[in-house]
Amino acid sequence: REAAIALLQERIRDVPGHPNPDVVFKDITPLLADPVAFGQLVDLLADVCVRLGATKIVGVEARGFILGAPVAVRTGVGFVPARKAGKLPGPTLSRPYDLAYGSGVMELKDDALAAHDRVLVIDDVLASGGTAEAVICLIRSTGATVAGLAVLLELGFLDGRARLEQALAGAAVHTLITV
Ligand code: PRP
Ligand code: MG
Repeated sequence: REAAIALLQERIRDVPGHPNPDVVFKDITPLLADPVAFGQLVDLLADVCVRLGATKIVGVEARGFILGAPVAVRTGVGFVPARKAGKLPGPTLSRPYDLAYGSGVMELKDDALAAHDRVLVIDDVLASGGTAEAVICLIRSTGATVAGLAVLLELGFLDGRARLEQALAGAAVHTLITV
């Protein structure tokens, strides 16, 4: 596990000043381009999914799609996209959010989840927590249970974890790398 995580760390590139001067962007494209590293990432996230007994994975547009979909296939559970506003055909549930460098609206199809579902939310980065908070609240409004949030990378200094505490209602954040 340690060796796998070290490889993931090596394949994430810091890009200072993107998309604005105050942000050091975490570029995961080198990781995605390396099939060994990407495979190990999928394995690690799949372990979380199995441990939690999740019945659905919700992937957060856009980078959460890239990580969440292969984990859903690997573990044999359904994949549900949480999308930015206007992309999903209705009826949808929607919720506005602020993130580290902007704002938006997240949407979920209103029949995508059932009350008996246990949902693992997957995204690449937990920064301010605004995006994940909106998605978790949407999932909870369907009556489904949020089993946890799994991210590749957590920006600990932004304290997104604290922002999520209430929405997560006791479910855990599973982070592979914290910076
Ligand atoms: C990025 C990242 C997370 C989110 C984290 O998404 O992929 O989803 O920001 O920020 P937060 O914790 O402050 O909410 P972004 O919407 O920038 O781009 P994407 O569509 O490429 O995923
Ligand atoms: Mg994103």
